[in-house]
Amino acid sequence: MGVFTQEINGVVITFFSTASAVGKTLISTNMASELARQGKKVCLVDFDLQFGDVSNYLQLLPQRTAYDLQQAMSQQQQGVAVRAEEFLTPYEYHNVVFYVLAAPTKLEEAYNIDADKAMDMVRQLQKVFDYVLVDTTSTFSKLNLALLDLSTIVSFLGIVDFIPTIKNMKIGSETLKKMNYDKNKIRLILNRSNAKTRISIEDVENLLGEPFYHILPNDFHAASQSIKDGVPLVLRSGGSELGEALRDLVARYTNRVYDDAGDERGSESWLARIFG
Ligand SMILES: Nc1ncnc2c1ncn2[C@@H]1O[C@H](COP(=O)(O)OP(=O)(O)OP(=O)(O)O)[C@@H](O)[C@H]1O
Ligand SMILES: [Mg+2]
Repeated sequence: MGVFTQEINGVVITFFSTASAVGKTLISTNMASELARQGKKVCLVDFDLQFGDVSNYLQLLPQRTAYDLQQAMSQQQQGVAVRAEEFLTPYEYHNVVFYVLAAPTKLEEAYNIDADKAMDMVRQLQKVFDYVLVDTTSTFSKLNLALLDLSTIVSFLGIVDFIPTIKNMKIGSETLKKMNYDKNKIRLILNRSNAKTRISIEDVENLLGEPFYHILPNDFHAASQSIKDGVPLVLRSGGSELGEALRDLVARYTNRVYDDAGDERGSESWLARIFG
């Protein structure tokens, strides 16, 4: 990344949920991979600050983390801008590359990250990446609320398993509605759809008052194997139903029909591609 990179005001996609273990990290690592595979400049930010899994899922050993970036931003002398790109760790698989802003390695460092500074980090990254994807935790924390505001798109993920999870999804979706965002901003995504459950998807959609934007299948084997290998599903040859559904999700976000050749960049504006 050159010093004279033009500012691009990238799209910010936050992955949020009101329950843990619903697939935020699996889906965000796969979306980052698929966007990068299509030739986009992508940064994946791990703002699950205390217990982030992005580096584990991608088998990265970051030298610098969000904490180091915050330290540098606080110490910067006037006129000497900190370049956020220098605090990233690349993920590379064959010729696909994207960058990760890793979560701190120590709990005390995570605890000391300030929400306003974290937002400054995202804004800086937006200037140099087409897409900034942010993995989060399942709480309405100050950091997550600020992120929801800043995001172009919020992927609100849920699974249909037990009544408490569904109750929390309902609370989450009602809270998001109260925030009066643009209708297209919040995308309700159901993960692990065909996992064994007695609760029907239709009943959940009725309860939430809207249909799911996208539905991803349950595939325990493919998901766990990809984490074990450190290779996101969308980058694997052979393919799996879950990998295909993840690619379809990216195609819907970028408003393009999935095209195996990848790589071409459309000439429409980002907004036209997302909301068109
Ligand atoms: N569609 C799927 N089919 C089968 N297993 C899945 C699927 N999506 C995710 N998983 C599995 O569910 C587990 C939780 O996924 P993940 O870590 O992505 O969730 P999370 O929302 O990031 O959790 P946390 O809130 O703890 O960070 C992982 O073991 C992952 O392999
Ligand atoms: Mg996670």
